[in-house]
Amino acid sequence: MKSRKAIILAGGAGTRLHPLTRIACKQLLPVYDKPMIYYPLATLMLGGIREVLIISTPKDLPQFRGLFGDGAHLGMRFDYAAQERPAGIAQAFLIGEKFIGADGVSLILGDNIFYGKLDFFRDALRVVESDGGACVFGYQVRDPERYGVVEFGPDGKARSLEEKPTHPKSHFAVPGLYVYDRDVVQICRDLKPSPRGELEITDVNRAYLDRDRLNVRVLGRGMAWLDTGTQASLLEASNYIAAIQNRQGLMIANIEEIAFNQGFIDRAGLQSAIATLPKNEYREYLEAVCAESK
Ligand code: DAU
Repeated sequence: MKSRKAIILAGGAGTRLHPLTRIACKQLLPVYDKPMIYYPLATLMLGGIREVLIISTPKDLPQFRGLFGDGAHLGMRFDYAAQERPAGIAQAFLIGEKFIGADGVSLILGDNIFYGKLDFFRDALRVVESDGGACVFGYQVRDPERYGVVEFGPDGKARSLEEKPTHPKSHFAVPGLYVYDRDVVQICRDLKPSPRGELEITDVNRAYLDRDRLNVRVLGRGMAWLDTGTQASLLEASNYIAAIQNRQGLMIANIEEIAFNQGFIDRAGLQSAIATLPKNEYREYLEAVCAESK
């Protein structure tokens, strides 16, 4: 199979979380015991993705580079690109055009945290790889007006898509994880900025819908898609991760563990990664993973 590629979009102005975002951009803020971006990165890795382009602001990009380097220690490849100003989520595909090349690509927003069985993502990757088109998801929320909203017809197929509608036609939000075929770049080239001056991801999805090439899959209620948009929801996300980790004694989004379990690195690779870590609980956890794998 061809190597799978994805983009993590981790820019933006961070206005809502100011003054927290004065010290670090949103996607580097802690969610319990890890920087936020570890969670979307873990989602991609669990989907088998090894080539990742991280897009952030010119100011914040060096921090991401410092955090992940070229990715070799995780058996991955990281590239980096700057978004000069937050001109819309869909601009990621224009910035990433060279990285994408002639392949399909996934996009995850650097502030989207998923927890649960990730079969839905792996299935979406397989479907788009074999049939083309795009695959996005629907997740029931109490406050759909804050998101992209998908409405389903009686046949269960997506009927309409709207970005932050005042009067949502359903309770299904579209989370920030999208799988596209190679057409996405051309679709973005043809896109016009919305009234708020952004290249909207919902317009990209609508272009696929209009061509009858959009697959929308509903995520079951057993999945957690956590919000990190406000101070309160950020704290809730931290508490959620803490509750599950402390109950199970298993870490969520420990990227070295995932790289090892996915076969991106072998035992020697895991040991080298551990050797670079300071002595603390995170390291002890990985040492136990390594010892148990003998
Ligand atoms: O989280 C899912 C939602 O994400 C979707 O349901 C919406 O359809 C989608 O528009 C988006 O809504 P948000 O209100 O979360 O969009 P926001 O402008 O806050 O951007 C989402 C993240 O992407 C945020 O962490 C900042 C980053 N971003 C955003 C823009 C517009 C960038 O890095 N560059 C950008 O140009």
